[in-house]
Amino acid sequence: MSDRATIELDGVTFDAPVIVGSEGERALDIRRLRLDTGLVTYDPGYGNTGSAQSAITFIDGEAGVLRYRGYPIEELTDASFLGVSYLLIHGELPTSEELERFRRNITLHTLLREDMRPFFDAFPTDAHPMAILASATNALSTFYQDHYDPSDPDDVEISIYRLMAKLPTVAAWSYKRSIGQPYIYPSNELGYAENFLSMMFAVPAEPYVCDQDVADALELLLILHADHEQNCSTSTVRMVGSSHLNLFGSISAGITALWGPRHGGANQDVVQTLMQIHESDDDVKAFVARAKDPKDPFRLPGFGHRVYKNYDPRARIIKEIADRVVGKLVGADPLFEVAQRLEEVALNDDFFVERKLYPNVDFYSGLIYRSMGIPLPMFPVLFALGRLPGWIAQWKEMTEDPHTRINRPRQVYVGAGYRTFVPTDER
Ligand code: ACO
Repeated sequence: MSDRATIELDGVTFDAPVIVGSEGERALDIRRLRLDTGLVTYDPGYGNTGSAQSAITFIDGEAGVLRYRGYPIEELTDASFLGVSYLLIHGELPTSEELERFRRNITLHTLLREDMRPFFDAFPTDAHPMAILASATNALSTFYQDHYDPSDPDDVEISIYRLMAKLPTVAAWSYKRSIGQPYIYPSNELGYAENFLSMMFAVPAEPYVCDQDVADALELLLILHADHEQNCSTSTVRMVGSSHLNLFGSISAGITALWGPRHGGANQDVVQTLMQIHESDDDVKAFVARAKDPKDPFRLPGFGHRVYKNYDPRARIIKEIADRVVGKLVGADPLFEVAQRLEEVALNDDFFVERKLYPNVDFYSGLIYRSMGIPLPMFPVLFALGRLPGWIAQWKEMTEDPHTRINRPRQVYVGAGYRTFVPTDER
């Protein structure tokens, strides 16, 4: 196999070295292209652009493979979320001492500064919790201004603990704000998922007992969402971080990117669509027909993926959890049946088969959240809590990479040519 590709244009030849990744994927190194030829590449949506060399997550979208730091996602389902977070951020599975230290450092930071409380009160009660989460994450940076230098490893380390510790508190408080209940403080003797559930559902008037199956299912969902290489929100975190912004601001930008319905907001859309289908006498075929109609902007949320052209391995695991947890918690959920029928109809439809559109991570996750009593607008927030260690790992890898430059794509200008200014009274 050749280790160089040649581009020829108008008598100018450009030799692009081929970079080979550790799983054999090949990339043309075009870093000198513009310098040597004056040309740029055009790739809207970056479908063919490798923006980084990364050692964190490997996806083979054709085969439906996902690995964190080499470990198949299916083998990490018995790990803890903090163990997987450590793996993503530090590159290796932790020993029990390393995990204990990591856990301890995170639980030491779960409280928010009391000055943050009025911040939540300032939002309207119907504010979307993703907007609150993104704003509060950025606002957190204002309390730690002497510890957010991206090039200082000690500052980065403490920022990692603070973000991992405080985001569940912020997330739960944004929910409490929306329902007018008192904010519940974190409890450091609880596990990561249990602590979050307690801050969501406990009230000061009564003791709260967390269902272990619910906590376990949530922990697993967090693991399944923990990283997914250069997706929209992760690329946003890297892009913003490439300007040497602190970790808080970079993660806040990632949360905002995740909120979009084509990205992490899709889990909320899926359940809303399933409700609409159910209300329309379960007319699954009508919704599939709408999704296929080129004149209708409607797409089936939870279907399709830029990288997976096969069943998303996370969706397979989530479907199994849904089968178990939804049944146990709420018995037969009619929406789960609608989802299964929708999947069956879509997977046997030529439109979806030809375009290789399969259920993605968002298709079944919302049904599990719903069965846990988590309200719809909180679904993308749970996605963000899961994705946090991935964003941190990718940001850290980017800041430590000597090849990192500020992210600044080129463009192909197609606007007006040179013209002179015309004063208002002469137009
Ligand atoms: N329903 C109907 N048609 C679809 C869907 C869908 N869910 N997804 C893609 N298509 C069609 C497109 O219309 C297009 O058809 P065409 O070739 O006839 O024009 C073709 O499949 C390819 O779609 P693109 O938009 O080019 O694919 P892209 O890789 O850019 O988009 C995306 C991927 C955004 C995920 C898309 O599949 C989608 O909108 N899905 C629904 C939203 C969703 O579930 N998002 C969550 C993704 S996972 C995540 O971010 C966590």
